[in-house]
Amino acid sequence: MSRAFDVGLESLSALGANSPPAHSPEPSQSTAPSAPGGKSFYLETFGCQMNDHDSEKVSGVLLGRGYRAVESPAEADLVLYNTCSIREKAAQKVFARLGDWKTTSNGKIIGVLGCVAQQEGEEIFERAPWVSLVCGSASYRRLPELIAEIESGGRRVTGLSLDTDETFETEITRRDNPFRAYITIIEGCDYSCAYCVVPHTRGPERSRASDSVLSEARRLADAGYTEIQLLGQTVNSYRDPTARKMNFVELLLAVAAVPGIRRVRFTTSHPNDFTREIVTAIDATPVLCNHIHLPVQSGSTPVLRAMGRTYTREQYLEKIEWIRSARRPINLTTDVIVGFPGETEADFRATLSLLDILRCDGVFSFKYSPRPNTPAQTMPDAIPEEEKSRRLAILLEHQRQIQVARNSTLLGAEYEVLVDGHHSDRDQWTGRTTSNRTVNFVSPRQSLLGEYVQVRITRAGANSLVGQQVL
Ligand code: SAH
Ligand code: SF4
Ligand code: F3S
Repeated sequence: MSRAFDVGLESLSALGANSPPAHSPEPSQSTAPSAPGGKSFYLETFGCQMNDHDSEKVSGVLLGRGYRAVESPAEADLVLYNTCSIREKAAQKVFARLGDWKTTSNGKIIGVLGCVAQQEGEEIFERAPWVSLVCGSASYRRLPELIAEIESGGRRVTGLSLDTDETFETEITRRDNPFRAYITIIEGCDYSCAYCVVPHTRGPERSRASDSVLSEARRLADAGYTEIQLLGQTVNSYRDPTARKMNFVELLLAVAAVPGIRRVRFTTSHPNDFTREIVTAIDATPVLCNHIHLPVQSGSTPVLRAMGRTYTREQYLEKIEWIRSARRPINLTTDVIVGFPGETEADFRATLSLLDILRCDGVFSFKYSPRPNTPAQTMPDAIPEEEKSRRLAILLEHQRQIQVARNSTLLGAEYEVLVDGHHSDRDQWTGRTTSNRTVNFVSPRQSLLGEYVQVRITRAGANSLVGQQVL
């Protein structure tokens, strides 16, 4: 499988999905039948971690049907793109990929999955008639039957229904990261932020049954995973649909209590559903990672109101106060959009001043990108592209300085790091702290992958920490 790295929440994901698994992660994988007729698939993934994880499940479905995964589209019988449409550039990239097949698809089946599929629907067949499958994530439950239809010669096969109340669970998941396993606990989104396509592309919010989440967590622990990341567009809106009626914090604590699990993360939290109990739980439970990603989008209350974000600057700051008053230091990261329609210079300055208060460890900042079928698309007072770029550049530099100052205080500190990679060119290992900082470090040891080691920080830049293993 292959992964494009420049959209959505990509930089929060640890390893690219093209990293080969170091061990066979799930027992069910070994029972996949061998490929009848040697059919092969190539799957490229764009977008957020939810897409990454959906791709792992789609791969599982295909492996279960006897397909073989290949590393290049040229060798594949079935070429799939799992797409993102959060910003225009992301969507354009997919059409560029599809364009590659205009004259060369000869005999291959080309399919579009994910958010562009849901957004553009059958329009994709018009723009790229060589595509045979268009399926949005809310219909992935039907993927096995859609794939069967294609195998029996079906053209223009679609899965575009949004009114499903089911979640996408599979028997086989081909996990790409051998150390951190994703579990989607909630799909879709019931908010209606004025700029955002997600409610249109992923459908209404559906929470997964708590017993199903917990049995998956136990299976993962048995398979050797020590870190679990719970996923959802608004992960903390979780509401158990079963009689157990677990809330988000109860589920977090139950996953953290699974024997063998050493780290539990979750993303993305919506400020509106962010409760003090989440902070209390992190404070009391070392297995819960001390990192919270809490997208603010803007530091100006009028802009937040226009965005439909359902909280004010002050209400957001109140939640930050809970986080800052915890006994454990909790790392904070956020998302910001600049140049939303009507954003004045004063609104923009309010975002900068908010960043000064937050002193985040990372900010994912984006120029507002008008999206089809969203209310913001037709709002007055659009900000010109050059002005958006100017604001973004100012914000990036502002935040860079905050991170330089923050990170310089870490020199000499020691952290426990879960080692998840090796840069052979510079002979450095790489891993994450529980607070989700990436640390590159040197060690005399030959084999460290998957281990938890102590690392002392020796160098700190704006975006990177370098250290040395403490032996
Ligand atoms: N569910 C998450 C966000 C998912 S999208 C939440 O509610 O916070 C990831 C980020 O992309 C958003 O937080 C936002 O900052 C950005 N984003 C979404 N739509 C956008 C648009 N139309 N233009 C620019 N950035 C956008
Ligand atoms: Fe989009 Fe808002 Fe839902 Fe996040 S909460 S996915 S930004 S609509
Ligand atoms: Fe993109 Fe869809 Fe995720 S639009 S960010 S892939 S939910």
